Amino acid sequence: MADRGLRILVLHGPNLNMTGFREPDVYGKKPLDEVDAEIRALAETLECEIRILQSNSEGILIDTIQEHRSWADGIVINPGGLTHYSIALRDALVAVRLPVIEVHLSNVHAREEFRRHSVIAPVTVGQIVGLGHAGYLLAIQALNTIVRETFS
Ligand code: DQA
Repeated sequence: MADRGLRILVLHGPNLNMTGFREPDVYGKKPLDEVDAEIRALAETLECEIRILQSNSEGILIDTIQEHRSWADGIVINPGGLTHYSIALRDALVAVRLPVIEVHLSNVHAREEFRRHSVIAPVTVGQIVGLGHAGYLLAIQALNTIVRETFS
């Protein structure tokens, strides 16, 4: 790890492909491909390698986490609605033993009661909520710092 850039897997869960179009007052007006472009630009500045996937399928997200077990140094994930009930997604994150940061575009704590509970949060190093797409950029910066400190 010391002789190469950090490798970060970024995952967007169900319905995040609709970002920019769906409930823009809640999730922001920026389409997901523009969010991803900002993530890639930051990764380049930090000399990180980045892989990004959006899927509406829980199984594809789990397969992707498992497949990146050896490649990734950390995971940034917005699990979308799966946040609130997917034990299978949580188990996959635990299984790969990588540091995970959970991101939500909206402030889930200021919304419906069912959004206040995350089954994912207890297995992450931290959660960033309510800061819109900036949350992904902050998560990548945080992972970069955390993982480098662990290996130094
Ligand atoms: C979300 C919050 C979830 O409750 C919701 O189901 C989403 C998006 C967010 O980014 O704010 O799909 O994860």
